[in-house]
Amino acid sequence: MFVFKAAVVGAGTMGGEIAQVVAAAGLPVLLKDVKQEFVDHGLEKAREVAQGQLGGLVKKEKLTQEQADSQLEETLGRITGTTDYEGFGDVDFVIEAVPERMEIKQSVFAELDEVTPGNAILASNTSSLSVTEMGEATTRPHKVCGFHFFYPASVLRLIEVIEGDETSEDTMQSAANFAQQIRKQPIRCGEAPGFVVNRILNSSVSEIWRVRDEEDLDVEEIDRLVTESKASPMGPFYLADLLGLDTVLHVAEHLRDSYGDRFYVSSAMKELVEAGNYGQKTGKGFYDHG
Ligand SMILES: NC(=O)c1ccc[n+]([C@@H]2O[C@H](COP(=O)([O-])OP(=O)(O)OC[C@H]3O[C@@H](n4cnc5c(N)ncnc54)[C@H](O)[C@@H]3O)[C@@H](O)[C@H]2O)c1
Repeated sequence: MFVFKAAVVGAGTMGGEIAQVVAAAGLPVLLKDVKQEFVDHGLEKAREVAQGQLGGLVKKEKLTQEQADSQLEETLGRITGTTDYEGFGDVDFVIEAVPERMEIKQSVFAELDEVTPGNAILASNTSSLSVTEMGEATTRPHKVCGFHFFYPASVLRLIEVIEGDETSEDTMQSAANFAQQIRKQPIRCGEAPGFVVNRILNSSVSEIWRVRDEEDLDVEEIDRLVTESKASPMGPFYLADLLGLDTVLHVAEHLRDSYGDRFYVSSAMKELVEAGNYGQKTGKGFYDHG
């Protein structure tokens, strides 16, 4: 199956950039959220990312400023923001990127099942939840799979294409093809908690969270040392703020519940989330983001 039109549902930390990735590959894409201000935020993110990428090409003298300006408008012109399901009647591929809570995902999947053509693939950007359970909310579980981007979606090339119990081979292959169509590198994986990347990442990062809590260390100092050691471009606490502490906490809890205490849940992070501080998106997390 070839994708001629796509949609992204949820225009938060991930959704705006995912829409930009799809549009930059030449495809029209709908970007839906529940309120116009969230849609606008997603569109603004897409503009910012596209401007950054094209500006880089101008600096390297691969494009003139005039070419970059016209490509920017073409790319952004392919993204249609919406707060309803108008235009979903002829989409081929939907990427759901709403908050990491099964009840929200299932209600979105049930709605998508109603408003999209029967042959459309319904994919979830979930970091850890069961794709099989999302498929159960639809009449087409064979057309449901995971399609997991990494933050920042406009930069990182990997996509985990996740197979639920009912996902058909045709859906897996079409999703992997679509990933390549939008210039990403797919890897196929089963529905194991954390899939591949988060399982590896969290096994190391959760040790840092554990030591921080046990020894009451300063998070900025840890981040500084990790960055200086060049083990990672940024420290684990700053990274968690950018990813969204609600999402990171959810993944951590899911891994701990699935694999036991070898995966640690940061109590400092839990306290922040309970107080409504989710990191950059709410302005405060381990750091103050103004
Ligand atoms: N943040 C990350 O680094 C990251 C990385 C990879 C995958 N993910 C996954 O992507 C998904 C989204 O994460 P996020 O960080 O972008 O979340 P987010 O909280 O930043 O954004 C979610 C968006 O979904 C919108 N939304 C809520 N209910 C909706 C509905 N019924 N219809 C349409 N929109 C709705 C919200 O208004 C919000 O704008 C989650 O499943 C998460 O696990 C996140």
